[in-house]
Amino acid sequence: MNIIEASGLTKVYSPKGTAKVHALDGLDLTVPQGTVQGLLGPNGAGKTTAVKVLTTLIQPTAGNATVAGVDVVGEPKSVRRRIGVSGQYAAVDENLTGFENLEMVGRLYHLGKRESRRRATELIEMFELTAAQNRPVKGFSGGMRRRIDLAGALVTRPQVLFLDEPTTGLDPRSRLGMWDVIKNLVSDGTTVLLTTQYLEEADQLADDIAVIDGGKVIAAGTADQLKARIGGHRVEVTLTEASAADTAREVLARHGSGEPRVHDGGRTLEVPVVDGTRALQYVLADLGEAGIELHDAGIRRPTLDDVFLKLTGHMAEEEQESQESSEAEMETAQ
Ligand SMILES: Nc1ncnc2c1ncn2[C@@H]1O[C@H](COP(=O)(O)OP(=O)(O)O)[C@@H](O)[C@H]1O
Ligand SMILES: [Mg+2]
Repeated sequence: MNIIEASGLTKVYSPKGTAKVHALDGLDLTVPQGTVQGLLGPNGAGKTTAVKVLTTLIQPTAGNATVAGVDVVGEPKSVRRRIGVSGQYAAVDENLTGFENLEMVGRLYHLGKRESRRRATELIEMFELTAAQNRPVKGFSGGMRRRIDLAGALVTRPQVLFLDEPTTGLDPRSRLGMWDVIKNLVSDGTTVLLTTQYLEEADQLADDIAVIDGGKVIAAGTADQLKARIGGHRVEVTLTEASAADTAREVLARHGSGEPRVHDGGRTLEVPVVDGTRALQYVLADLGEAGIELHDAGIRRPTLDDVFLKLTGHMAEEEQESQESSEAEMETAQ
């Protein structure tokens, strides 16, 4: 059974005095039960709007969607009973402690006092927040905040969990911690729809990825399928002397899965590879044997920018600056 089905979802905003915005422009999506669906796209692609429609916070202008078989427009209350949401707009009470926040969610959902406390204790342990459980959330780090927010979404044991950019703005270490938490969750069989701007995050967590741009799906598949479409990993070397370029080119061609490309007046060469680490090892060994000196060498992994450039012919430049400044604000506020 598909736990999420969306077809032709459209959301048009008509802000006063400015042109209409097609935040969603015919989005189609099917998510089988027990899987993790990644929604990958740059700022402004329509990710949050899609999550808001699917979680009944806003109504679509056109199209339709069901979650756990229930129509999001026709029976929003019934949908809300089946889902958990964690993301950019989720509410955590700053003045309450971590434990109190979770307990409050339980009470809001009429779990009863004892069950609310029991569930809060269970989630505090699961998210390794025991040491901080009696401190007000306003003193929490960014990573702890995300964990308490996610825990809040799980209080009612939802069938489907929506995570809107769960790691945006986190430092790399907290991001890895959050990935572990999410991986544990999905190993228990929860269906998750996760939005992200990071290919690597979708790669780590999602069974299937829908790349969205301009409010619609522009490519879909597993991480490996998408990477294959955009060329996957590359080995890149920069030579000390451009005069060695011909020999280096032969070495790269031998260990690559495609034609080497030469940049930078012959000093920098790159080649697509299947297994980045192995290929780099062989390339370095052979270049060393040929007596070629290197200025730099490494594996280049495709970034979201690479995906976008390849799939759309344009860079993911929209609202990039405002995003960065709002992330900076978030970090200082935490
Ligand atoms: N309430 C709103 N009013 C007007 N435009 C909006 C509103 N919400 C979102 N948008 C616009 O819709 C587009 C998609 O936004 P959003 O879904 O937030 O993208 P993402 O979450 O992928 O960054 C953007 O161009 C955004 O500016
Ligand atoms: Mg968003």
